[in-house]
Amino acid sequence: MDYFNFREGELYAEDLKVRDLAEKYGTPLYIYSQSTLERHLRAFERALAPHPHQVCYSVKSNSNLAVIALMAKLGVGFDVVSEGELRRVKAAGGDVRKAVFSGVGKTDEELRYALNEGILCLNVESAEELAAVSRTAASLGVKAPVALRVNPDVDARTLPAISTGLKNNKFGISIEEAFALYLKMAEDPHLKISGIDCHIGSQMTSTLPILETADILIKLYKRLKEHGISVDHIDLGGGLGVTYDAEMPPSPDDFFSGIIERFRGLDCKIFIEPGRAMVANAGILACKVIYKKHNGDKKFIVTDGGMNDLIRPALYNAHMTIVNAHERPESGAERCDIVGPVCESDDFLGRDRLLNAEDGDILAVRGAGAYGSSMSSCYNSRRLACEIMVSGASARVVRRRQSFEELWERESV
Ligand code: LLP
Repeated sequence: MDYFNFREGELYAEDLKVRDLAEKYGTPLYIYSQSTLERHLRAFERALAPHPHQVCYSVKSNSNLAVIALMAKLGVGFDVVSEGELRRVKAAGGDVRKAVFSGVGKTDEELRYALNEGILCLNVESAEELAAVSRTAASLGVKAPVALRVNPDVDARTLPAISTGLKNNKFGISIEEAFALYLKMAEDPHLKISGIDCHIGSQMTSTLPILETADILIKLYKRLKEHGISVDHIDLGGGLGVTYDAEMPPSPDDFFSGIIERFRGLDCKIFIEPGRAMVANAGILACKVIYKKHNGDKKFIVTDGGMNDLIRPALYNAHMTIVNAHERPESGAERCDIVGPVCESDDFLGRDRLLNAEDGDILAVRGAGAYGSSMSSCYNSRRLACEIMVSGASARVVRRRQSFEELWERESV
């Protein structure tokens, strides 16, 4: 559930009219709802309440400082995948000691930075990386907290591009190799075994894959215990899906109830790394209709928001719901593609949609809070969009629109 609702034919972000916000701040405009973010976090916390746990918000899904700061204020930890994300957490006032660091290609510099800052856990993805962590920790004279990211070879039953837990994916370490590495780690004075980690994929709409994964990880946990190795947490990663179209993902309560049952009696915390389910429906992208045009029978609505602002449709052929912020009669709806101004045929926000819109109308792409702004670019020398956070009847800019000069300020002739 989110707080972007229609009242008498007008779309509101909490208590503010989306058309007014578009007028005031310009378009394309990312609008986030603070109450929705808070509500989603509460849902995760409630679902995990019966067992000791830590929610680590996955920064890549929306890395705006205001979002990170809100999460930090609510006591959440973080999942980061680069030094840049870790520095963002710090810049937003988040606690690095509550952050886990994932990713297959951490450099020595990144490892050094994370260890110096007191990272909670490094989620290590290969034997090669483990050697680098040990080396870096030794050079710093610290003991590095480590979890191995296990690749359980479970099908997350999601889009291939966002599936990560199959053995042909680049992510993680097979169970057998992980077991052998844990034994090795126990002998390494520069490493502290902290957890078992996993992330099998994103936009999951069924609970079966995550339950299958939990069973595999708990089995490994028990096997390690028999060998005198204990871990303080099992990290199940992110992955809970959202409704973009007709998907019916489980609620956090339903997603985690089977997990809670499996962890009962285990002296081991549950970590999770949600991104999308936390922020997707807490954001919309508002764009203005520039022209309506047609090529033969094919109709297009051209907006000022394009694939550089929101790449999910172009990159994954992902469906995102698009509505007119000012409802117009359905009788006037036409079948059309909603496209951006970028010079690529794949620059679209939605294809084959029934929509009634006129020049100057504001369209809202729903579910744009996750992997929207964080994946945006300046392609075609288009400036990064403005982002605002709405709370009740107030709005504040959390990223101003980039200036033209900022597009080339780091370049020289
Ligand atoms: N943890 C790790 C290690 C991850 O790789 C990811 C996402 C997450 C947590 C958060 O997953 P979530 O709860 O958001 O599903 N750009 C794609 C999604 C890529 C996901 C990458 N990893 C999209 O727009 O659909």
